[in-house]
Amino acid sequence: MEKLFIVANWKMNGNKRSNEQLINCINDKVCENANIEVVICPPFTYLTQILKLKTSSIKIGAQNISENQNGACTGEISGSMLQDIKVDYVIIGHSERRQMYNDTNAVIAQKFELAHQNNLIPILCIGESLNERKTGQTLSVIESQIKSIIETTRIELFAKSIIAYEPVWAIGTGETASPEQAEEVHTNIRNIMEVYDSNIASSIPILYGGSVNGANSKDLFTMGNINGGLIGGASLNGEEFVEIYQAAESLINE
Ligand code: 13P
Repeated sequence: MEKLFIVANWKMNGNKRSNEQLINCINDKVCENANIEVVICPPFTYLTQILKLKTSSIKIGAQNISENQNGACTGEISGSMLQDIKVDYVIIGHSERRQMYNDTNAVIAQKFELAHQNNLIPILCIGESLNERKTGQTLSVIESQIKSIIETTRIELFAKSIIAYEPVWAIGTGETASPEQAEEVHTNIRNIMEVYDSNIASSIPILYGGSVNGANSKDLFTMGNINGGLIGGASLNGEEFVEIYQAAESLINE
């Protein structure tokens, strides 16, 4: 088993008190392990709180980044600001941002580029809607989402990036893609990237996201092309998140 990534996307949840309880619960159980990367992505306002409270075994990510460098962009947070406070990762192109905040592929490509310029590792989210799956468009949607970023930026940037496959119909619905369904898409993601660079295609971590929980995580992470999870709802419950982490730990130790 190669390295596994367990990434918590807290979305717009929590407060100082609940965050402290949650991170303490995670701190207690997450040990230094070169083969498991645990990343917590709190809302912007709590990045420094979690940076202070977390142990050194845990990394920090932001949930978004501005598509602009700096300047007159009221309400935005730049890549250099995230780098300044020592954030390691940034989620880019989450389906909620694509749907609610008009993050188009062009905007996402700019964010992807700026993340790299500021030494942040982007976690690039892609995924099809329920209608797209039902009408047999899953693979073509995935292909156009990835290709547009590769072709607007550079394939070389993917050597230091993570992809998260998050089928929109599985996010927050309790309906998970089966391990086989996810594996099929993950294999296709590698096939799409193979045309540009075979080393990057085979080595880029591809996470699955969409109703991952303590009970289904081990079966998902067992698949050859699933390199961990991007976890929403279940990451807000310390014990459940720890269960997911421990599923990864047991696979790494097998
Ligand atoms: P859920 O785990 O709540 O389905 O959310 C997944 C997600 O959107 C993570 O980014």
